[in-house]
Amino acid sequence: MDRRTFLGNSLAAAGGALVGGRISNAENTPAPQSASSTRQQVPGAIAQSEIEAARFPDGFLWGTATAAFQVEGAWNEDGKGESIWDRFTHTPGKVKGATTADVACDQYHLYPQDMALAKKLNQKSYRFSISWPRIQPIGTGAPNMKGVDHYSRFVDEMLKNGLRPFCTLYHWDLPQALEDKGGWPNRDLAGYYADYAGILAKHLGDRITIWAPFNMPWSVAYMGYGVGALAPGRANFDDFLKALHTLTLAQGQALRSIKAASSKATVGSAYGMCPAYPKTDSEEDRAAAARYHAMNNVFLLEAAMHGRYPKAFVGDPPYDKMGMKPGDEEIMHAPLDWVGFHYYTRRVVSDASKVQNSSGGGFSGTEIEADPATGRDPYTRFRAEMPTEGPLTESGLEVWPRGIYDLVTQISKEYDHPIIEITESGCGYLDAPYEKENGRVPDTRRIAWFQQELAELGRAIKDGAKVRSFHAWSLIDNFEWSNGHTERYGLIYVDYRDQKRTIKDSGLWYGKVAATNRLT
Ligand code: FCB
Repeated sequence: MDRRTFLGNSLAAAGGALVGGRISNAENTPAPQSASSTRQQVPGAIAQSEIEAARFPDGFLWGTATAAFQVEGAWNEDGKGESIWDRFTHTPGKVKGATTADVACDQYHLYPQDMALAKKLNQKSYRFSISWPRIQPIGTGAPNMKGVDHYSRFVDEMLKNGLRPFCTLYHWDLPQALEDKGGWPNRDLAGYYADYAGILAKHLGDRITIWAPFNMPWSVAYMGYGVGALAPGRANFDDFLKALHTLTLAQGQALRSIKAASSKATVGSAYGMCPAYPKTDSEEDRAAAARYHAMNNVFLLEAAMHGRYPKAFVGDPPYDKMGMKPGDEEIMHAPLDWVGFHYYTRRVVSDASKVQNSSGGGFSGTEIEADPATGRDPYTRFRAEMPTEGPLTESGLEVWPRGIYDLVTQISKEYDHPIIEITESGCGYLDAPYEKENGRVPDTRRIAWFQQELAELGRAIKDGAKVRSFHAWSLIDNFEWSNGHTERYGLIYVDYRDQKRTIKDSGLWYGKVAATNRLT
């Protein structure tokens, strides 16, 4: 099951929904109403007047994000090695529509055009990732200079276009050769990864000042090794625990090797986070929501900031199964210069500690995607669901603008008001060029989504959160992992037949936001 199949399945049951006055499911259509009056009535939506009043600070860094595997293509050019995602996409049955990312958006060749488009939209920051197997084809050893030179030219192009190059070192495309050595459950990978990080900082650290070691490390471990929904597609709970610990060690070691190689470097994160709301007011559900937050949101953050894991477990933490050794706390401890995280949707969490594990022991999941029936594992014992009170996007995620306010204020409070970068946020809608409007892409639902969410982010900033950037996912439509091309998150439409880019109405709107710091 891919990470959104479960959510997608629940769409049918959830029925129709209005997003900013647009109907997202024609079969269950409520009576049409005007956009502003409808907004008030959609659960979770915020008032039009708040959107109009929202202002962002001078110098706020408006940006977009992409990831190497999702946009680059050129999967075997210039000495690049095979990644686990090449292997996964080339395996029949893994990706919807049998789509591969061999070509994707061809950004490997078209990056000058894409950076010019970002400039046209008044962007100030571009979050991109580097493909490890382009730099080290088998994950270890001397760098492949063709790969290094490519990213060096790419970074220059960003700077030329007035964009801050924000580098994610790892957005899921592990060299296959390292997977063949056991993948992230093998703790040796922490050392290999730190070497890779040092190579990047040495060659690019004169121009890149902002580095995030991992994109969504919890998902790397859980989706890749715990349930197998993402590459490398393994499903074993003990491997998930081991992978999680290796990633934490790797995060700390990478921070130190980046800083050793570049005096300008600042290091933070690109964690995936969902604000967790207890299902009921009971003490048990509140404790379960806290465990969710500890495990899914701040597991690696707490490790970096304080050299310890947060209280994510019921009973004794399974540190032995994670492969924890004396002295590991010091390796994990690597205080971040700023905290980066994504926001897409929220979770409602309930306690599952009293439910008998019907699957015969072992593992049945910390997220409901793993097992909708039982949705729990032997250690964290919570059940997390994505509610459907708010409308759903076409990618099946609940629209809940308030979530970003709650999450940002919670992290600000818990970590003593750190500098925050919103590393990703966005929504999947399939709008395409509309012939009758001269090929424009009138994606008004996406505009409504961002307006509402950004109004809530603006409110968090007004209330004291030190948020300095927002990166919309994504600059361009791209390869959406196991969902292939069935989802579109871009502000710019990509026609995969000829790589033509068309700025969507949301892109034009976002360009204005970046120029004016206001949402209307
Ligand atoms: C995030 C991923 C990103 C993209 C968006 C839609 O979880 O980091 O690569 O797939 O979801």
